[in-house]
Amino acid sequence: MTKKITFLGIETSCDETAASVIRENDKGTADVLSNIVSSQISEHKKFGGVVPELAARAHLENIEYIIETALKESKVSLNEIDGIAATAGPGLIVCLTVGLNIGKAIAAFSNKPFVAVNHLEGHALSPGLEYNIRFPYLLLLISGGHSQFLIVKDVNVYEQLGTTIDDALGEAFDKTAKMLDLGYPGGPSVEKFAKLGDKNFFKLPEPIINKAGCNLSFAGLKTAVLRESKKINGEDKLRYNLAASFQDTINKILYKKTKVAVEMFRKKTKKEKFQFIVAGGVAANETIRKNLSTLSSEMNFETVYPNLKFCGDNAAMIAWAGIQRFKKNMTDDFNISAKSRWPLDRDAPYMKGPGLKLL
Ligand code: KG4
Ligand code: ZN
Repeated sequence: MTKKITFLGIETSCDETAASVIRENDKGTADVLSNIVSSQISEHKKFGGVVPELAARAHLENIEYIIETALKESKVSLNEIDGIAATAGPGLIVCLTVGLNIGKAIAAFSNKPFVAVNHLEGHALSPGLEYNIRFPYLLLLISGGHSQFLIVKDVNVYEQLGTTIDDALGEAFDKTAKMLDLGYPGGPSVEKFAKLGDKNFFKLPEPIINKAGCNLSFAGLKTAVLRESKKINGEDKLRYNLAASFQDTINKILYKKTKVAVEMFRKKTKKEKFQFIVAGGVAANETIRKNLSTLSSEMNFETVYPNLKFCGDNAAMIAWAGIQRFKKNMTDDFNISAKSRWPLDRDAPYMKGPGLKLL
């Protein structure tokens, strides 16, 4: 029997301070022995968004306790751990540095291997914690900072098929919630209040829906929500209608763009049967899951959605990505520093900014 690897993961890239201990199991997935996430929602709520300096301070105040709790709950001593993984980017440098430095320090004094994890790779590989995933697969990564379609060919090997040319999808949800005064964090509250509204009430734009391959754009939609929100005059029913119409428009865009991405995936990989994985915080949205499951039965591919606790930021996914990299000898030395930008596909064109041509 081969030894089952155990890792400690640490995540501080944005507003969640998280630590987790996981161990490989016989099923090819992981036993999550502890998964501690301390959210800073109350800290950022009054500002309606993440304030970097406040987030960094909260990470500093909490990180030791969170790591201690993760170790204690897992009933695994530091001696039994095979390596430490910490998120090194992309994200807020002041936040990343907190988790990265403590991860390096623990690895140094305990003389263990260290893996600097790309947060996006954490999301990309996260379904492997619970499911047997097979490379290559098609990934839709939708979070607060990113919205991308990628072919995941292997650990560390990604091909970007499309990305957002302006806002990330989570950002669009958060801004919509703010404009409609639905509360923070935005995504879950838009989903909640949309249930009370009529999705056909407002006709909103679907930017670049029929062009630019599977690239995405949400800025024009956000502007339209702002324009319509000015007509609402605090009437609850209209706010809920606008939330519902916004979410429905998102679903129409994702349906169409996923269809294009599936066609591109099939053409490039020559694989008819494959797994389509939706990961990242926005993947928690039930209407998006249902919508994409409809497409999967129409186009005959398998969908895999991570458990809700592994959609939003967490350290179990960082530990898992750490184990996968460790097994391929991709460990890091202590000189590595935090990176604010760190694309999974290093050759993908940068799509934001002026001068972009949408064919
Ligand atoms: O992956 P994540 O936790 O952090 C980043 O890496 O950015 O994603 C956070 C994003 C936020 O924008 C949040 O509003 C969104 O995920 N989100 C949702 C839902 N739950 C979280 N968006 C739509 N519907 C949800 N149920
Ligand atoms: Zn994330």
